[in-house]
Amino acid sequence: MDPRLFQAFPAEVRDEMESRYVDYCYARFGAPDFVARTFEKRETFLETYRAASHPRWNGDPITQTEFDRYYHGDAPVDEAPELVAWLVRMARSNAIEGWGVRYHLDRSHYEREFADGHRPTARALATMQELYHDELLREAVRLFGLEFELHLPGWGMQQMFKSSSYLPEAVGEPLTLVTEIIGSVAFLDMRNRAEVLLARDSELLACVRHLIDEVIIDEIGHVTVLLATLNGPQLVAARRATPIISAVVQRFYHRDSRRDGEQLRRDVSRYSLDLFPVEVLQQAFVPEAYWSPRAGSARTSAERVTTAS
Ligand SMILES: [Fe+2]
Ligand SMILES: [Fe+2]
Repeated sequence: MDPRLFQAFPAEVRDEMESRYVDYCYARFGAPDFVARTFEKRETFLETYRAASHPRWNGDPITQTEFDRYYHGDAPVDEAPELVAWLVRMARSNAIEGWGVRYHLDRSHYEREFADGHRPTARALATMQELYHDELLREAVRLFGLEFELHLPGWGMQQMFKSSSYLPEAVGEPLTLVTEIIGSVAFLDMRNRAEVLLARDSELLACVRHLIDEVIIDEIGHVTVLLATLNGPQLVAARRATPIISAVVQRFYHRDSRRDGEQLRRDVSRYSLDLFPVEVLQQAFVPEAYWSPRAGSARTSAERVTTAS
């Protein structure tokens, strides 16, 4: 993993970074409503998206029955046609987090904590963004005429999330950082697959990219705000825990897909912001110490696909 990311900032800079992230969230998502669990601008984004007409998949039709068979694990995803495997992955990708953030929000009482103009924390703002990820991914899958209900994570995974919700922040945050790192590379891999699978349908690809990028931009911010606000020992702990947690998460998500599991492990082990496309990084919360547009060794989408395929 990129060593630049794991160098702790001095305490006063860490406080300033948290504050900068909160400002960033207000600018990007608009005002949060902790009762309705919404952000003003995100609501507008979804309304605008839903009101517009979008290209549809017009290749060989994928039936709901075929999709469901793999989605529910009645047949291994590795045996599915590549496009179906990708759609199943998209649909499954937020199962743990979608459940986990609702669990956390139900118990955190942010609506009381941040009433009367109290400034929200980075964690509260990041958690609320996750709720939209279900919706964004659902819209992407709908472009193919398919619907899905989120799976509940298994007992073990639920316990892991529940305990991280109750852990003191000093211990819980390094664990959250690891899951955010894993999440951001998983979505990046889904984006890269889309570039290959939908290469012949540029309009549909642009639409899928538009939706996934919203998710990736959020996830990069979740990673970088934690990196920028954790202290040295917490960053060491996160680094050490990464391979273990990555293996556990992968067993849940990629139990029936070797390709995706291997790709995820590879990307996590070489994690760097340079993995992400420039146009995504430019919209994400990225402190200069981690990546700067001028130094920019990150590649554009087009360049990444040529070298990846
Ligand atoms: Fe997420
Ligand atoms: Fe996240």
